[in-house]
Amino acid sequence: MSSSGSPIAPRPLALVTGPTAGLGRVFVDRLARRGYDLVLVARDEARLKSVADELTTTYAVSCEVLVADLVDREQLKAVEDRVSSLGSPARPPVDLLVNNAGFGLKRKFLSNTVEEEQAHLDVLVTAPMRLMHAALRQMTERHSGGILNVSSVAGTQPRGSYSAAKAYLNRLGEWAAHEYAKDGVHIMTLLPGFTRTEFHQRMDVGRDAVPGPLWLDVERVVDEALADFDAGKRLSIPTKRYKVIAHASKHLPVSVLQRFQSLGRR
Ligand SMILES: NC(=O)c1ccc[n+]([C@@H]2O[C@H](COP(=O)([O-])OP(=O)(O)OC[C@H]3O[C@@H](n4cnc5c(N)ncnc54)[C@H](OP(=O)(O)O)[C@@H]3O)[C@@H](O)[C@H]2O)c1
Repeated sequence: MSSSGSPIAPRPLALVTGPTAGLGRVFVDRLARRGYDLVLVARDEARLKSVADELTTTYAVSCEVLVADLVDREQLKAVEDRVSSLGSPARPPVDLLVNNAGFGLKRKFLSNTVEEEQAHLDVLVTAPMRLMHAALRQMTERHSGGILNVSSVAGTQPRGSYSAAKAYLNRLGEWAAHEYAKDGVHIMTLLPGFTRTEFHQRMDVGRDAVPGPLWLDVERVVDEALADFDAGKRLSIPTKRYKVIAHASKHLPVSVLQRFQSLGRR
């Protein structure tokens, strides 16, 4: 009860995958600032707990830590169960799902083992698809909720298996946003361009692999994305530069686009 005697509305709850670095770390900061409680999902438990402590101390929100490698089907199932839950007093339902975790492979398709490619596909496609499915079950039943899929401008271009995986997420999100709007669920796909995070560090790619003007600031990407989400948009492409690139990519021949495929790689 509040001091005036009226019941205190529960805080909304967001589940974010990959919240310990890069875009995910800024998403959880901004969501906590807006008063969201959080479920944090990634592999590194110590890092997750440290993010949870920081958010709890700074914003007085509550954080649930869910350690999961999204490649592992059993661990992914535990996340799906959390997302699909209709809620209980101890475990409220997830109001916003942010499918953000991802990584890029260091080498090109045939230089990777097929298992490496499979793990990549599991994180970039299988996990967000299954978590969307789980979220939509409870959100359509409650007639309320939101899903924000972090895809990539690469999904508009032929740039190997990474862009193919992101193209899947783009199309699924585009369709689902129309399909489930009538059920009270808002779905937005975010297409960042090259953004300064740990993503390229983990791929051992230096900043010089991409021309300076193409690098985006991570806070700007997230702030624009959340502003677009608030405005009810179904697609968010931060910055004019990348809006133009995404548009041009739909119309340029593959032979031209392939000339740029080594950008952001070693
Ligand atoms: N940075 C860019 O230039 C760029 C551009 C376009 C799109 N994106 C997309 O943006 C999203 C976020 O990328 P980022 O740049 O912020 O990357 P990042 O800084 O490397 O952060 C990746 C996050 O994902 C988690 N993660 C990675 N593999 C995981 C797994 N198997 N299971 C669970 N969690 C896992 C990491 O935590 P743990 O390692 O602890 O698991 C970390 O929290 C990705 O989907 C990426 O494809 C990035």
